Amino acid sequence: MQTERLRADTDGVTRAASVLAAGGLVAFPTETVYGLGGDARNGRAVAQIFAAKGRPSFNPLIVHVPDIEAIAELADVSPLAEKLGAAFWPGALTLVLPLRPDAGVSPLVTAGLNTVALRVPAHPVAQALLRAFGGPVAAPSANPSGGVSPTRAVHVENGLDGRIAAVLDGGACAVGVESTILSLAGAKPRLLRPGGVTAEALEAVLGEAVAQGAEDTARPIAPGQLASHYAPTAQVRLNVTVPREAEVWLGFGPACAGSDLNLSTSGDLTEAAAGLFHALREMDIVAAGRGIAVAPVPETGLGRAINDRLRRAAAPRP
Ligand code: TXA
Ligand code: MG
Repeated sequence: MQTERLRADTDGVTRAASVLAAGGLVAFPTETVYGLGGDARNGRAVAQIFAAKGRPSFNPLIVHVPDIEAIAELADVSPLAEKLGAAFWPGALTLVLPLRPDAGVSPLVTAGLNTVALRVPAHPVAQALLRAFGGPVAAPSANPSGGVSPTRAVHVENGLDGRIAAVLDGGACAVGVESTILSLAGAKPRLLRPGGVTAEALEAVLGEAVAQGAEDTARPIAPGQLASHYAPTAQVRLNVTVPREAEVWLGFGPACAGSDLNLSTSGDLTEAAAGLFHALREMDIVAAGRGIAVAPVPETGLGRAINDRLRRAAAPRP
């Protein structure tokens, strides 16, 4: 299969929507990362998403819709879900909600769970595609499973060329880390994955501290819980202020003057998140067999999502 690169204009969006309607796969930009989209109601399309990524089928997918009205057709929307949706949608938040029995979503999407992860992306190209297609779109990040998430069309092509019908080129993603996943399916809200919406911002709306991680840690329910993820080819070592001879150094902030690449010379976490995955890809090329040493990044705001991805990149490989 030849992967078509589509311009993010009316023709490109129309073509992408028709590929989805025919059961094909299209990578498309969101403000977080590029997603690999397929019709969430079409089991064959969803099965192809897992196949194209080499993704374990017990790992469920996020369903994308254009607005909260479309969310209510798929899941039970509690007053709290409505409040969070009003605060953060469209945007970088994914809510895990009780799945409606009449949702019509393929059980492959939810891995057989009675909950569904839902997101309303803000990116204008994602919005245009979802409206042109007119149905729920299942979309994990558009990278081979376990690899670094794509924040540009060329990243998608590097990983999935020949395995998907098309990629809609919407330029570089502004947020750069995946959405924050918050589960509202249990007794209390639970943060399953830190992401583009900070825990501080969530807590300001919730009015209380938010519990973190899976309730049952023996069963991973978000990719953040699978240790090795977002991994480049090179070995990654974290919190490094003095790199070794045989390492390239990825810096953060003004103290890292000698670094090979700096996520943000001014120490801006928003800038660092936006460039994180591209930087990991670049460093992987520059490293050429050497290790990648990464400077410390503060564990506040977007720094939590950045450090989460860096820890996965540095985790022992399976
Ligand atoms: O920013 C993002 O979230 C991007 C863009 C494309 O929207 N998507 C993304 O998808 O990061 P993915 O598949 O790489 O990560 C989503 C994760 C799944 O791996 C899964 O662990 C979790 O969301 N998830 C999906 N459904 C769930 C459910 N019902 N309960 C708990 N976790 C769920
Ligand atoms: Mg992913």
